[in-house]
Formats: sequence, C-alpha cells, structure tokens
Amino acid sequence: MSAPAQTRSSADLIRAEEPVLAHNYHPLPVVVARAEGTWVEDVEGRRYLDMLAGYSALNFGHRHPALIEAAHRQLDRLTLTSRAFHNDRLAEFAQRLAELTCLDMVLPMNTGAEAVESGIKVARKWAYEVKGVPADRATIVVAAENFHGRTTTIVSFSTDETARQGFGPFTPGFRIVPYNDLAALEAAVDETTAAVLLEPIQGEAGVVVPDEGYLAGVRELTRRKGCLFIADEIQSGLGRTGRTLAVEHESVVPDVLLLGKALGGGIVPVSAVVARREVLGVLRPGEHGSTFGGNPLAAAVGTAVVELLETGEYQRRATELGVVLRGGLAALVGKGVLGFRARGLWAGVDIDPAVGTGREIGERLLREGVLVKDTHGSTIRLAPPLTITSEELEGALGALEKVLA
Ligand SMILES: Cc1ncc(COP(=O)(O)O)c(C=O)c1O
Repeated sequence: MSAPAQTRSSADLIRAEEPVLAHNYHPLPVVVARAEGTWVEDVEGRRYLDMLAGYSALNFGHRHPALIEAAHRQLDRLTLTSRAFHNDRLAEFAQRLAELTCLDMVLPMNTGAEAVESGIKVARKWAYEVKGVPADRATIVVAAENFHGRTTTIVSFSTDETARQGFGPFTPGFRIVPYNDLAALEAAVDETTAAVLLEPIQGEAGVVVPDEGYLAGVRELTRRKGCLFIADEIQSGLGRTGRTLAVEHESVVPDVLLLGKALGGGIVPVSAVVARREVLGVLRPGEHGSTFGGNPLAAAVGTAVVELLETGEYQRRATELGVVLRGGLAALVGKGVLGFRARGLWAGVDIDPAVGTGREIGERLLREGVLVKDTHGSTIRLAPPLTITSEELEGALGALEKVLA
C-alpha cells in the first residue's frame, strides 16, 4: 500500500462527519483510507488487520486481484444498461450462480435487504398462484432474534426493539417462533404459510449455530407442510462457514436462497434471490424490478466471485483456519471469554463483562491494530477475510488475549 493521499487527520474527518452525516452508526474511531488483502490502513498510515471483513462482504479480502481485474475490464466497456435492455454479462452470471447453488433461476438485486424483500414478495405470489392461499392471507414464519435488514417490512418481524421503535406501523403477515425449535415451527406453520424464512446461522444475533439436525428438520417440515424454505445466506454464505452455503453442512437445498454481501466481491452491491423454477417463475414483466439489479458491472464482479468459489479454495481455507480460530478461542475461555460459537472462519465471542463490554474490547483491539465489531453489548464477532493466513489469525488471537488480560 502506498502513502495515503488524504491530508486531513482522522480526528478532523471524524469531527467533520458529525454535523452532516446521519447518526445511525457508532463506528470505531478509525478512518480507513486504503486496503489490500486482510489489511487496511488509516489516513495516518497505521495498519490494521481486518477481522470483520465488512460483515462478510469482503470474504475474498480487500481488492482481490481477480475481482479488481474483472471490475476494471468491465468499467472500460459497459457499466449500466438497466433491465430495459439485455446486457452481455447477465446470462453467464445467472447460469453460473444457479449451478453453484444447485438451483434454477436468479433474480438479481443490489443490497441484502432488497433480496429479502424480493424473496418475501416471490413467496407470497407463489402462495397465491401455486399453493392456492386465499388472497392477502399468506403468512411467513420467521425466527426470533433474526436479522434480515432494515426496511419497514423487514423490521416488522424483527424482535430487536431498537430496530423497530419509532418505525411503525408495521407490515402484517409474519409469525415469529423461537430459533432452533422445530416443535414451535411445526405449530406455527399452517395452510396459509407461504414460507419459513431463516438464517442458517444467526449472524447479528452473535453467530448462533443451531443444533445439528435443525436445518434438515426445517427442510423436512416445509416439504411435508407444502411451504417454501427460504434460507437467508447473505452473511453465512459464499465460503464463510467452510462450505459454499451454510445449509450444505446438513445437505439441505432450500427452495429459495438469498445471497448478498460477498457476492459483490467488496466492490459493488450485488444481491440475488436464487430459487427453483416453480418459485421464481411466478414473476412476470412489470411485477418486480430494480434499476441497478443485474447491471453489467455487478454481473461481471458477481461472475468473478462465483469463479473464485468454484475452485473450492476459499471453502477449504475457512474449514482449515476455522480449526485455528476455534483452538485459539477455546484457550481463552475462562480468561476473559465466557464462551463462543463458531463455524468455519466465523465466531461470536461472549466477553466476560468483568473484563469489558464488547465495544471496549473493540476499542482496545483497535489500539493493537485489529478491527472487530461488537454486537448485543458483550459479544464480539470475528469474520476475517477467508484469505487470512494462519500467522495473521494467530496474531489477532494473541491481540485478543492481550486486551482481555
Ligand atoms: C442475514 C442477513 N440478511 C440481510 C442483511 C441485510 O443486508 P444489507 O445490509 O446489504 O441490506 C444482512 C446484513 O447484515 C444479514 O446479515
């Protein structure tokens, strides 16, 4: 990385944001100016190991050469057409993404929340047209402690009061059951149910991994009851857990898959609803869309992401380095760590409140040159780029041990 061009200091830039930027985030006090691989650099030239990877949007690290090259090549040729016309990149993207995920059709969108909204719309339409649910009676069953995004419909079925307070009235048609509870799900699904919408691992909740058999149970239940299984793999998918998709750990293929974050290679927002033909086939011209969804730049980067995943290298790295991550965290239990949950290169670490809040640990790690993010007060999330080396990972675990001491 060469020297940053920014002439204003970090403190100055943080101060400058205050009056002009909505206060909907509480970032750690670091101003990133450059990045490469697993490392970012602030405006003063200090380097930090990125152990958050843009909430898994940077699974392949910052500025992965193959992704940057694909983006540059596309920038030089064609960037946007809208879906009023065809573009010469979209067919390949959709075909390879469908193949990678063992599904049939793709609805390209931009952000994760849009993919979730689109999945909800498609499931409702499927319920009316294919399942025969009476008009406007469709229900969707979701899990408590979910995180699916920030739109008004999505926060309608959140159980996080901070996400909801002040944003009503809410969209009806959702039933909330405890996560990881098949009996509760069985009781909630009835003839009006269009879909069960779940994260295979609940990321924002603190990397909550369900019991073995839960996802296979949801698959069996939804099939038996004649409703769709929508898996939101926006955070858990695309290599993070050691498989292309987290549902693969239980050999499950959902009816509808929601992807986002890493699908854009950390370069552009790219999301998608990927589904069986019977489901996405319900959409007809004019019923849904997005100006930017499926744009040629997004399709080019998305195709390059699929190509990286087709090699299996990133899934293998997540599996192998996941062993190092779990081993390092296990050694910290009782030494400032109360417990942790992990799968692949993804962990939620519960910090002993006697040692500090999640935020305080994040601030201390920042001073040690390691970036993490807290969630729910006392938990920190670790989700480094899948390109991290074992030495870098051990360095981050060493820094954690130091700040907990
Ligand atoms: C599981 C899941 N779904 C949906 C979203 C929303 O994605 P976006 O922030 O791109 O709208 C997120 C974001 O963290 C997520 O983790």
